[in-house]
Amino acid sequence: MVDDTELEALYDYPADLDRAWTQVNFVSSADGAVTVDGKSAGLSSPADKKIFALGRDLADVVLVGWGTARDEGYRGVKRTEVRARRRAARGLSEVPPIAVVTGRCSIGPDSPMVTDTLVPPIIVTTESAPATRRAALAEAGAEVIVAGDGRVDLAIALRALADRGLRRVCCEGGPTLFGDLIAADLVDQLCLTVAPLLAGGRAGRIAVGTPPAAPARMELASVLTDDGFLMLRYRKT
Ligand SMILES: NC(=O)c1ccc[n+]([C@@H]2O[C@H](COP(=O)([O-])OP(=O)(O)OC[C@H]3O[C@@H](n4cnc5c(N)ncnc54)[C@H](OP(=O)(O)O)[C@@H]3O)[C@@H](O)[C@H]2O)c1
Repeated sequence: MVDDTELEALYDYPADLDRAWTQVNFVSSADGAVTVDGKSAGLSSPADKKIFALGRDLADVVLVGWGTARDEGYRGVKRTEVRARRRAARGLSEVPPIAVVTGRCSIGPDSPMVTDTLVPPIIVTTESAPATRRAALAEAGAEVIVAGDGRVDLAIALRALADRGLRRVCCEGGPTLFGDLIAADLVDQLCLTVAPLLAGGRAGRIAVGTPPAAPARMELASVLTDDGFLMLRYRKT
């Protein structure tokens, strides 16, 4: 691994963004499993956690699918000393909001993402989601973005975030959201940790859904290793 300053330089967003720029973070076992016992924790390591935290530290907004937020017990992003220092140095807000993608508006106003957070969460949902659920979330202090009908149109959603000044987007999955981002050609960077583990079983892979017309070509931008874990960064060419 490299020191924190080098790490920040490697993983920082491009300067002067005039659109949403989307980085996606995942950890996978060497045999391609995205979970162990339904969660990602069993695949992670201290170095992977460092990269994950850095993703939050450098972003304007954390984008996550409802399935991940629910299964991983998401709450608002916490303030830490390192986070505060990194963000202040870049003129970013104290903590990034979490934007949760949920076409059906599955999240309720009593979710810890709404009740345990320093900044209001953003709910990215659709015209077809029940109006009462959308209203209850807005009432509870969440910001509700309607982007598309049926499924969330991710291009519209990212434009809506960029319009709010949220251009550095750190997507923390999960596989359904990542698959949709790939299908819409909206992935600028993938930060993938490969854990030296064989998980077997029936766990899914890091992206699922309708494939794009052709696989997106990425370039390998950096490779770090720590304790047998491989931290890969792929950038769109
Ligand atoms: N290893 C890792 O790094 C990692 C990272 C993240 C997640 N995970 C694991 O992945 C699993 C969850 O997988 P998942 O595929 O269910 O995750 P997901 O993509 O976070 O959640 C899927 C849900 O998010 C909403 N959604 C996502 N994209 C949407 C779109 N374009 N339009 C409308 N709604 C959209 C839908 O919610 P509604 O049904 O409410 O409409 C959908 O049911 C968990 O076990 C989690 O632990 C692993």
